[in-house]
Amino acid sequence: MKRAIVSDIHANLEALEAVLDDIAKQGVDSVYCLGDIVGYGPNPRECIDRVMGFNLSILANHDQRALYDPEGFSSGAERAIFWTREQLEMSNGDPGKTAERWRFLSELPRTHRDGPLTFVHGSVRNPLSEYVFPEDVHNIRKLERLFALIEHVAFQGHTHVPGIFTEDGRFLYPAEFAGRYPLPRNKLMVNVGSVGQPRDGDPRACYIILTDDAIEFRRVPYPFDKTIEKIHGVPELDPFLGDRLREGR
Ligand SMILES: [Fe+2]
Repeated sequence: MKRAIVSDIHANLEALEAVLDDIAKQGVDSVYCLGDIVGYGPNPRECIDRVMGFNLSILANHDQRALYDPEGFSSGAERAIFWTREQLEMSNGDPGKTAERWRFLSELPRTHRDGPLTFVHGSVRNPLSEYVFPEDVHNIRKLERLFALIEHVAFQGHTHVPGIFTEDGRFLYPAEFAGRYPLPRNKLMVNVGSVGQPRDGDPRACYIILTDDAIEFRRVPYPFDKTIEKIHGVPELDPFLGDRLREGR
């Protein structure tokens, strides 16, 4: 069984298409998305349309807030969400498609389990919105509580920082194991990184390939200048949301 797992696309169509091209060459059996399809970026409709063809997608905080209420977001993120909602409400001559997108978003699960594997957006404890940052290795109690809820491996996103948390309290960046990590018997939390808004200093889109015996982190270059230009062309989207794509921050 070979799976591609993506997350945090954030309406960045150029990044998503580059990743899907890369996935097409990997011979995978299925494609999963761990949420945040929309929010921040300029192409929410197009990104949802592509993810609707995946085998699984998980609900995340930005998707939920596009559906309901952006309360609790920073003003920039809130404005982006209101704009995103407007885009999703526009029928563009195809009201059936509009309804289909809303239905798809509203039916996304918060958690998916496949045997000992768990798939969430944030964490196994709070699937929608708990962050698990690399610095949390210093919060031993938090890690212990999370690992107690994990049977073998939890796959998550949300922080946009790819890497692996080991049960003995370490966080490993993909560069520390040359991008390929053999699946141990011990428990892991795996952050798959972000397709459309990477924040680990590498502007390339990130995703993982999961096989029965290993996890491979892949980085895919994409024409971010095009995405930045689109973001700068939308007054409701803070220009910083584009600028940061260049740095991967
Ligand atoms: Fe996100």
